[in-house]
Amino acid sequence: MIIKNLQLTNFRNYTQAEFNYCEGINIVSGGNAQGKTNSAEAIFFLCTGYSPRAVREKQVIKRGEKFAKIKGVASSLYGDVTVGIDFFEDKNKIIKVNEVPVQKIGEILGNINSVFFNPGELKLIQEAPEDRRRFLDVSLSQISGGYFYALQTYKKILLQRNNLLKSEDRELILDTLPVWDISLAKAGAKIIAERNGYIKMLSPFAGYLHEEVTGGGESLTVKGDYKYEGSEEEIFSQFLTALSERTEKDIETGYTTVGPHRDDLKIKINGVDVRVFGSQGQQRTASIALKLAEAEIFREKFGEYPVLILDDAMSELDKKRRSRLIDYVKKMQTIITCTEPECVPNYQSYNNIVVEDGKLV
Ligand SMILES: Nc1ncnc2c1ncn2[C@@H]1O[C@H](COP(=O)(O)OP(=O)(O)OP(=O)(O)O)[C@@H](O)[C@H]1O
Ligand SMILES: [Mg+2]
Repeated sequence: MIIKNLQLTNFRNYTQAEFNYCEGINIVSGGNAQGKTNSAEAIFFLCTGYSPRAVREKQVIKRGEKFAKIKGVASSLYGDVTVGIDFFEDKNKIIKVNEVPVQKIGEILGNINSVFFNPGELKLIQEAPEDRRRFLDVSLSQISGGYFYALQTYKKILLQRNNLLKSEDRELILDTLPVWDISLAKAGAKIIAERNGYIKMLSPFAGYLHEEVTGGGESLTVKGDYKYEGSEEEIFSQFLTALSERTEKDIETGYTTVGPHRDDLKIKINGVDVRVFGSQGQQRTASIALKLAEAEIFREKFGEYPVLILDDAMSELDKKRRSRLIDYVKKMQTIITCTEPECVPNYQSYNNIVVEDGKLV
């Protein structure tokens, strides 16, 4: 899969800009605050329908303007596809696939696939379990439409179940909870089963890729909390049992204390938790290895690599790690943003795009 062309209109600091990318490595360079991440964000938007930055969507409209547009043309094993998003100040965004508006946001998924790394991705290692779940959710939603819808359903039911748990009326809670539990366990079982399968694939890839980037100096392992295992049906009944066993505790705390919304990933280097003991560079390498593993899983699923976007990934990696990383990613379309193109070894031999104040120069 490659993205060939990206057009931006009133998107963040761009009034009008057109990017042409080629296969292999593309370097988008420029000083701080010139629009590098904005262009990477636009691509991710076309892949998933939302921003990788936690923002209010209307913020993407250039200040002082009333609308914004992103349009991209990608080419995959299945042919070319055009995806567009129109943002408006006063109404919801419109997503178009091959110029036809789609009704559900989920329909944008799977047209252009990307794996996005940005410095915020370090949260994947450093911060709360929520960020690691988000990693799984973003990736699995692109791979499996069923996952995306199960996740939406799960979140809705969880909210309703939590509201019920906060009720003063104990009888009402005890009467109604079993009904919510069945729906929650159904959506939850789908999520857990897919995550389990994903982590089983992710771990060996991540370990191998980490070795590639570090030159074999370190060994990375990823493990999920395999609390529930087996088929989706088996997980359904295990999870349902866990929910009913926790009824008293859930009523006491006023929220749902078990389920995939509480799961975590354990990421270790040489057997030690990277989150607690890893250096900045080690954490960055580990998060890049996870992202590369994600790209490999896409290839297994779809028969081709996704577009890899490495936003500001090079800083903090030493020279050797940089060149091993570049050697590895050459085989897929990779869009690298960095302040100086020199951060990519042999940068002259790749497609170089320079941005300055929202313009290509
Ligand atoms: N809606 C908007 N309208 C106008 N400008 C915007 C809007 N949103 C963001 N910007 C501007 O875009 C610029 C940031 O661009 P971006 O994040 O792409 O920078 P960058 O080139 O990646 O820089 P860095 O090297 O610091 O990461 C900022 O100057 C910001 O004010
Ligand atoms: Mg940036």
